[in-house]
Amino acid sequence: MIKPIVAGNWKMNGVSQSVTEINTLKANITENDQSNNCEILICPPATLITAFAHILSNSPIEIGGQTCHHAEKGAHTGDISAEMIKDCGAKYVITGHSERRMDHGEMDRDIALKTEAGWRAGLKVILCVGELLGERKADLTLKVIERQLKNSIPDGATAENLIIAYEPVWAIGTGLTPTTEDIAKVHDFIRKFLIENISAEEGKKIRILYGGSVKPANAKELMAVSNVNGALVGGASLKAEDFTGIIAAYQ
Ligand code: 13P
Repeated sequence: MIKPIVAGNWKMNGVSQSVTEINTLKANITENDQSNNCEILICPPATLITAFAHILSNSPIEIGGQTCHHAEKGAHTGDISAEMIKDCGAKYVITGHSERRMDHGEMDRDIALKTEAGWRAGLKVILCVGELLGERKADLTLKVIERQLKNSIPDGATAENLIIAYEPVWAIGTGLTPTTEDIAKVHDFIRKFLIENISAEEGKKIRILYGGSVKPANAKELMAVSNVNGALVGGASLKAEDFTGIIAAYQ
C-alpha cells in the first residue's frame, strides 16, 4: 500500500505572523489524528523553514523547501543549497515547479541537478512536471510529461527519495482542473514510465501527486483518481482550515 502525502506549497507567501496558521494546523492534525492515513508536509518560503520546523518538531507534519541550488556551497549570491534547507529542519525539497521553470528559466537538466543535490543532502525530492495550456490543446501532454521525466529524473531514484507531482500549468491558481479521466490518463502514464524506466519494484511505489486548484470541495474526488497518491496544494494550503479540509479527503 502506498501512503499518500498531502503537501502544501506556500510559494512566496508568509511572514513571521504566519506561525498562527501553523499552530492551528498542528492543533487540527493532532486532534483529528489524520496523520495515520496520509503524510502531511508544508513547504514554506525559506525564511520560515526554521520557525515552522521548530513549531512542528513534535508533530507528524514535515517541512520542505521549494527549490535549492545544485551546489553544496559557494559564490552564488542569494541562493540556498539543499544542505542549508536540511540544516533548517526540512526533510523534503520541491524541484521543477513550473513557476521556477518560468520565472528562472529552469530547464529539465537544471532540475536533474537540483534533484541530485536534494538527495546528496539527504532530502526527499518532489519533482514537478506538467504541460502548458497550448501543449494540452495541441495534444502534446503525454509527450511533454515524458520529456520532463526522461530528462529530469537522475539515476538512483527510489520510492524513498522521489515523489512526482503532476501539475498542469494551466490549472495552477486558476480554479480550473482537468477532468478526472484526464488526470487518470496522465497519472497512469507516469506510473508506467516509472516502472519501465526506474524499476518495477520502485516504480510501482513512487508517489504521484496531483497539483493545480486542489480545494477542500474537490479533494475527495481528485484523490480517488487512479494512481493519484496525494496532492500538492498551493493557495488552499495557506489557510489551516482549508488545508485541513483537503487532508480530510483521506479520513
Ligand atoms: P494552486 O493550488 O494554488 O493551484 O497551486 C498549485 C501549485 O502550484 C502547488 O505547487
